[in-house]
Amino acid sequence: MKKREITSVLYEYNSPAELEKVYERLIENAKKAAENAYAPYSKFKVGAAVLLENDEIVIGNNQENAAYPSGLCAERVAIFYANAKYPDKSIKAIAVAAINNNSFVKEPISPCGSCLQVMLESEKKTKSSIKVFLYGQKQTLMAESINQFLPINFNGDLLLK
Ligand code: THU
Repeated sequence: MKKREITSVLYEYNSPAELEKVYERLIENAKKAAENAYAPYSKFKVGAAVLLENDEIVIGNNQENAAYPSGLCAERVAIFYANAKYPDKSIKAIAVAAINNNSFVKEPISPCGSCLQVMLESEKKTKSSIKVFLYGQKQTLMAESINQFLPINFNGDLLLK
């Protein structure tokens, strides 16, 4: 038996103001999108903002449904909308912000596994990495690629051989 240890690298910022302007603006877009989420059941409102290679920002927010599984997370709404509108543009970055009990979460939340899997698909499709910014009032986290969240993953390379 051999032990394999896997390390993830994340960067912590006290405030989005420490980031390059373009990413600060991306987080602002995610925060604004969170305010417009449709989350009457969980009351957990999430916003996502996607930065494309043409420097356009596309936003999304969670859309819930009385039939619970019919709803969708903010990240996938944003990514699918970006893919529908700009099918050939790669995603440079995504920012996520969440509101719980009427205020932005203190500690950032992570995207769920299904959203990470969709982000991974985008990275593989365009052979480029996506920076992830997770906003919290106390700190903002940044990862340089989806690999930091899913170092072991299932992807199309395994199917297309
Ligand atoms: N949700 C997101 O939109 N993104 C995440 O990263 C985590 C969870 C949504 C799904 C559901 O509408 C609500 O938050 C509670 O799980």
